[in-house]
Amino acid sequence: MTRKILVTSALPYANGAIHLGHLVEYIQTDIWVRFQKMRGSECWYVCADDTHGTPVMLRAEKDGLTPEALIERVHGEHTRDFSGFHIAFDNFYSTHSPETRACVEEIYARLDAAGMIEKRDVEQYYDPLKKMFLPDRFIKGECPKCGAEDQYGDNCESCGAAYTPGELKKPYSALSGAKPELRVSAHYFFKLSECADFLKKWTCAVPEERLPGMTPDARESHRRLQPEAANKMREWLDSLDDWDISRDAPYFGFEIPGAPEKYFYVWLDAPIGYMGSFKNLCERKGIDFDAFWKEGAETELYHFIGKDILYFHALFWPAVLRHARYRTPSGICAHGFLTVDGAKMSKSRGTFITAESYLKLGLNPEWLRYYYAAKLNSTMGDIDLNLEDFVARVNADLIGKYINIASRCAGFIGKKFGGRLSHTDAGWLKKFRESAPDIALSYERREFGRALREIMALADAANIFVNDRKPWELARRQEAEKELHAVCSEAIEAFRLLTVYLKPVLPKVAEAVEDFLGVAPFAWEDVLCPLPEGHAIGAYRHLMTRIDTAQVATLVEANRESLAPAETVKTAAAGADEGNVSIDEFMKVDLRAARIINAEHVEGAEKLIRLSLDIGETKPRQVFAGIKSAYDPAQLIGRMTVMVANLAPRKMKFGVSEGMILAASDPEGKVPGIFLLSPDSGARPGMRIK
Ligand code: 2FM
Ligand code: ZN
Repeated sequence: MTRKILVTSALPYANGAIHLGHLVEYIQTDIWVRFQKMRGSECWYVCADDTHGTPVMLRAEKDGLTPEALIERVHGEHTRDFSGFHIAFDNFYSTHSPETRACVEEIYARLDAAGMIEKRDVEQYYDPLKKMFLPDRFIKGECPKCGAEDQYGDNCESCGAAYTPGELKKPYSALSGAKPELRVSAHYFFKLSECADFLKKWTCAVPEERLPGMTPDARESHRRLQPEAANKMREWLDSLDDWDISRDAPYFGFEIPGAPEKYFYVWLDAPIGYMGSFKNLCERKGIDFDAFWKEGAETELYHFIGKDILYFHALFWPAVLRHARYRTPSGICAHGFLTVDGAKMSKSRGTFITAESYLKLGLNPEWLRYYYAAKLNSTMGDIDLNLEDFVARVNADLIGKYINIASRCAGFIGKKFGGRLSHTDAGWLKKFRESAPDIALSYERREFGRALREIMALADAANIFVNDRKPWELARRQEAEKELHAVCSEAIEAFRLLTVYLKPVLPKVAEAVEDFLGVAPFAWEDVLCPLPEGHAIGAYRHLMTRIDTAQVATLVEANRESLAPAETVKTAAAGADEGNVSIDEFMKVDLRAARIINAEHVEGAEKLIRLSLDIGETKPRQVFAGIKSAYDPAQLIGRMTVMVANLAPRKMKFGVSEGMILAASDPEGKVPGIFLLSPDSGARPGMRIK
């Protein structure tokens, strides 16, 4: 019977770029899914942008966009980056979707009907300037334990103490600098404290479903939680608190039905986004949604996640699903964090590397897929991207061992034998075929490093064969023609088998090999059928280049101190100093003295004032400025300020903004306010500022 499997990766937040840390997970999941598909399973891989919550709302505000416009832009960027790394989602959707909303509302209604929701008053910090309740990470103050300044509302980075925002000394809002007030508000709670018995059983059991077609070995490897995760759960299960699932307006999310101004907390709707994305796919492809989600479903469901969000996936999520009468996951596959050269990724060291910069600089995504796969296993241990080792490993394994087999033998087949192979089923290739079950089990168990070690051991054997038989010497002897044909044909068959095994990791190389060999897309079972005698292959074109250390150095430079790869890539290429701009670059910014000839409120915009600016042109410029909290439009009319005149025009919800005015503000938000720049008296509209 065909296995039916639904797989997810964690949903990336819609307010930031995809970086190499994220890619550990997407590459890991993609390899596993591609392996399952090659095996003939019905396997669906879905994901979505995680669009809701305060950070997305504030980021949109900062960029002068609506949250909808921001998430649409980021969705485009994420889609581009994922496809650049060959992450083949069956659906990459959004939590801000009608399908997710419908699932969230249904789940909430079922939890409520089951008596699992409780409304309670909560005392929380409120920012009177921003007119909003503050999430813990937006409150700062002095650590109550060691007195360190500027610490977040939940823990101190200086002494490591954990506390509640109420305990912080001299608290202030990280958004506006205002002193926050404690205010009472009604919140909705999911009664997680009543789920301990269920979760204890759930943690320890193997999945109930029968997992059709799975060998006992594979089944054993599909315990719901890895041993380290199960241990963590045992700690957590001793003290389960109810879970606050609501947030007060203003909030970007789904409003709770029947509770005006109350929204579902982003972490309630995020995993439901897995369902929403799948539902959207089902509707498009005619897949039976219930077969994958209804209580007692016999299909398999796996969530690939980072260890930092285990709490949400192994506690909240199964408990919510259980009480809403849906199936629970077959397995949670948690991985560790990525370090680069043994340390946390760092913007100042240039190791916080974006997916976009990697691709833009022309590095091959399959190099990284291979390197990560070589390091990945089924544990929650961290993995290190050692940049020197990355270059050495990819060049040695992929180029030196794997590609080398084809590049040394394919030419002779084309030149001397009309592109036709002789007999390929040689005895020495038997172990290549017999390794299939072992390699498959390693993939199945997410022991990708082990799978690649087995595959590279076979590549070594193939290289020893080629080195011993020396086709380049055989080619010089007329009488050795038959032997040359056999040696090269067998080597090509070895190369084909290796490619089948590597296909989940190197899908594009595999496609090129399929094309070169003139065969249909490889399935796992193709290892059993040798290429027939007389099979015609195409002309060999080089399949992969070596990595050059200089490319990696450029990548690090391009990412130093910045997360704006589009610009930094150019800067690095031009050789400018890190962190500095050259005078030429600065002079590209066209700063002008401007007179504000009109200023008015913008209907429906909380922050913005619409300005008309005279910079000596025939028509005034329209600029939207986020200064409403600090200025009354009437007081602005007639005054001079400074404008960036050559900023690309930006289409906003309220019209096109044709520039930007300059103002000072405290980056820490400790001193509230925004202060517009003005030239000294005497300056005329349109004068160049430099
Ligand atoms: O930690 C994160 O990046 C979250 N955006 C992951 C959400 S995963 C799932 F629950 F939706
Ligand atoms: Zn402290």
